[in-house]
Amino acid sequence: MEMEYSYSCSFMLVCSVLVLCASTRCVRCQLSDDFYDYTCPHVYNIVQHHVYSAMRTEMRMGASLLRLHFHDCFVNGCDGSILLDGDDGEKFAIPNKNSVRGYEVIDAIKEDLENICPEVVSCADIVALAAGYGVLFSGGPYYDVLLGRRDGLLANQSGANNGLPSPFENITSIIGKFGDVGLDTTDVVVLSGAHTIGRARCKLFSNRLSTTSSSADPTLDATMAANLQSLCNGGDGNQTTALDITSADVFDNRYYQNLLNQRGLLSSDQGLFSSVDGVANTKDLVQTYSANGHRFFWDFARSMVKMGNISPLTGDDGQIRKNCRAVN
Ligand code: HEM
Ligand SMILES: *[C@@H]1O[C@H](CO)[C@@H](O)[C@H](O)[C@H]1NC(C)=O
Ligand SMILES: *[C@@H]1O[C@H](CO)[C@@H](O)[C@H](O)[C@H]1NC(C)=O
Ligand SMILES: *[C@@H]1O[C@H](CO)[C@@H](O)[C@H](O)[C@H]1NC(C)=O
Repeated sequence: MEMEYSYSCSFMLVCSVLVLCASTRCVRCQLSDDFYDYTCPHVYNIVQHHVYSAMRTEMRMGASLLRLHFHDCFVNGCDGSILLDGDDGEKFAIPNKNSVRGYEVIDAIKEDLENICPEVVSCADIVALAAGYGVLFSGGPYYDVLLGRRDGLLANQSGANNGLPSPFENITSIIGKFGDVGLDTTDVVVLSGAHTIGRARCKLFSNRLSTTSSSADPTLDATMAANLQSLCNGGDGNQTTALDITSADVFDNRYYQNLLNQRGLLSSDQGLFSSVDGVANTKDLVQTYSANGHRFFWDFARSMVKMGNISPLTGDDGQIRKNCRAVN
């Protein structure tokens, strides 16, 4: 007994020494929730303050910041690359141009942070934190945003054009793009629930509308179709409407309830419930989340952490930008 005890004890000692050595090889290579606790403890207050006041002016900004994080993470990982200025950057890729918003809020946060803890907090982390507060202040779940990302040195426009999902794609193809960054079908369904807040422009759903009833999308509620038709007709495609027709600015599970009633806005939304290729894998989950808001919140929080973990730069990789729009 005694022998066994001391044997396993020294075995554990060797193990923990090994683990210690392995982890000191690369200092802070993983994201953590206490990354700035000693170097910039005010980061939470500052980001929170800016997101809160931006949303008091315009509630939609919470949604815009959430989408900014998503579009950052899907291209070369969550590295702040979407923030880099330049015509050949990600900002001007097809899914982002005249569409992604919130850059000025990130700039204002960065400016404050550079004053109190210069070159400490990365732009990629600011985006991740701002997205978290955008969700929270819209009424969504709180989750611990993991931090410690560093900023990328280049923007990848073709990566954005190819890697970001389009609302005109079928569900199989969207699942494939999430798979390319390590996210699964559950993540597709639960993260699409982000469309419980925010707006979309006519040009991104008017393919579902038609003046002749035979070419209209049969999976779009007729009354909703008629209303969208009158909103979009004669415009230049830039008019916007709520992605969640029942509670535009509130983060809740009504997005899924809408899908059950053929009231999803984008064809990629409705496809999770109604499309032939979506049905097998995604319909059951839509039903689950439509009936259980707690389950949606819980899973959404989990998938956000997963999305925030897509290929972060850590350790000595990348840099801490002084200005989020340009490399140092
Ligand atoms: C599943 C594939 C997805 C597709 C095809 C898609 C597509 C779109 C489109 C077309 C818009 C409207 C853009 C515009 O009007 O210019 C939009 C808005 C939005 N998306 Fe997605 N999206 C997807 C997934 C996601 C994910 C994973 C998130 C976040 C976790 C997200 C968050 C948002 C938000 C919050 C808005 C509203 C932004 C605002 O009002 O400024 N989307 N999305
Ligand atoms: C740009 O993104 C594509 C697709 O994600 C990737 O294959 C490519 O390596 C990226 N290019 C650079 C320079 O990072
Ligand atoms: C929509 O708005 C953008 C930016 O203001 C503008 O360049 C474009 O011509 C407008 N119309 C369409 C159809 O995109
Ligand atoms: C989905 O789109 C891809 C790419 O366009 C296509 O190859 C595939 O056949 C489509 N699948 C379904 C079920 O429509």
